[in-house]
Amino acid sequence: MSFVDLHSHVIPAVDDGVKTLDDARALLRGLRSLGFAHVVATPHIRTALFENEPAALRRAFDALVAALGDDDALPSLGLAAEHHVDDVVFEKLAAGDGLPYPGGRAALVELPETRFPLGIDGRFFDLMVRGVRPVVAHPERYAPLFRGSEPLATWVSRGVGAQLDLMSLVGRYGKNQQRAAERMLDQGLYLVAASDAHKPEHLPLVEAGLLALERRVGASGARALLVDGPRALLGEDAAL
Ligand SMILES: [Fe+2]
Repeated sequence: MSFVDLHSHVIPAVDDGVKTLDDARALLRGLRSLGFAHVVATPHIRTALFENEPAALRRAFDALVAALGDDDALPSLGLAAEHHVDDVVFEKLAAGDGLPYPGGRAALVELPETRFPLGIDGRFFDLMVRGVRPVVAHPERYAPLFRGSEPLATWVSRGVGAQLDLMSLVGRYGKNQQRAAERMLDQGLYLVAASDAHKPEHLPLVEAGLLALERRVGASGARALLVDGPRALLGEDAAL
């Protein structure tokens, strides 16, 4: 198995993810043992909460890679960010001052959980004209999508990517979120499934999520979301 995890919080002390190098190593080893051969670190960039600049995240990532050293039990690593879409962060991302996925073709975006910002459709379009495909993190966790898949389905039909949080499938965030995830899976809306792991304690939930995913969509469906979708977003020149 060589899954690609496009959503993780594995850089110590830059957001609400792992706090120490030991936890980073434990989480990464665990993800590797679950089948993830490549993991992209996606620390939060969020106004007022996580004021992370791309250059500082790059330095923290390089320090992590150096500290981990050569270790066959670890996945290979990449760096991007989870951009919380507010006015400030979106302007930065659209201006090329964000941290898209390696290869620069796509960027992970997170929306407010209770209400979508006005004009979000136009913002997604702005990004796509700039050659950056928005990838919506865990749409199943957003209240406006608990009862139905619009507007996500429309966004997806226009080229936006949707990314499942594996832990949603086993009820980590609640029943509404789990049911929305199952519906979106059945509707074929997702391009990618990812861990969104923040600490080693999440590993059993990620493992259960992988099993639930395979039960729901079969082995080939799971492979599409864990291998093919992520690779398509990274592009052939992204180092895996
Ligand atoms: Fe996240």
